[in-house]
Amino acid sequence: MPRRDFLEDFRQAPPAVLPSLLLCDFGNLAAEVHALQAAGARALHLDVMDGNFVPNLTYGMTIVEAVRKSTDLPLEAHLMIARPADYVDAFIDAGADVVTIHAEAVDDPRPVLEQIRRRGAAAGLAINPPTPVETIAAALPLCDVVLAMSVMPGFGSQAFDPVALNKLRALRRQWGDSLLLEVDGGVNEKTVAECARAGAQLLVVGSAIFRRGGRPYPESIAELTELARAS
Ligand code: DX5
Ligand code: ZN
Repeated sequence: MPRRDFLEDFRQAPPAVLPSLLLCDFGNLAAEVHALQAAGARALHLDVMDGNFVPNLTYGMTIVEAVRKSTDLPLEAHLMIARPADYVDAFIDAGADVVTIHAEAVDDPRPVLEQIRRRGAAAGLAINPPTPVETIAAALPLCDVVLAMSVMPGFGSQAFDPVALNKLRALRRQWGDSLLLEVDGGVNEKTVAECARAGAQLLVVGSAIFRRGGRPYPESIAELTELARAS
């Protein structure tokens, strides 16, 4: 059964660093998940790519299921796929607590967001760097999480695009604390503080955790969390 209780935790005690499962060691997935939980991760971000909506192919429900078996942490399925309406139920069945779809993948995100909430999961809506916030204004009342992408989706280790910061500020101004704000792409030691200052409560991090020359996860997560908190 999906959960929504953690949403209030994130509102009350931001920010949260969400490791993105894209550059981790999938050969030792359960061990990686346990290590991230022990390192203080408060939720995990799973990057689902279909090779169609984005020019890369990663994984689907089976990996979400495997991660679900290894942890009770909240799981976000970041769906970078065409036709998300056809798959949201399957990702919730697999164990996702937050299902985040892309506004660019659908004509109208509202019916899909309602579908996700009807299943008791948290509904997330993502916009790519070129997509203005105004585009999703009508759908915001149906969102629990809004994700401002700071890279064009499809790959890790890309440079941070500051266009996301103005969107976060605008959303925070308009919606106060009722919306959880998330940023994803190029979030690292140099960019995490300004993301938190702009209003992001959920900070997705890939290479700044998994491409740090074997630096222990607790150190990376603690440093990123501290930089965000001190912002
Ligand atoms: C990119 C993914 C991100 C990515 C982040 O499309 O949605 O979650 O893994 O990785 P970094 O932090 O390396 O940019
Ligand atoms: Zn992502």
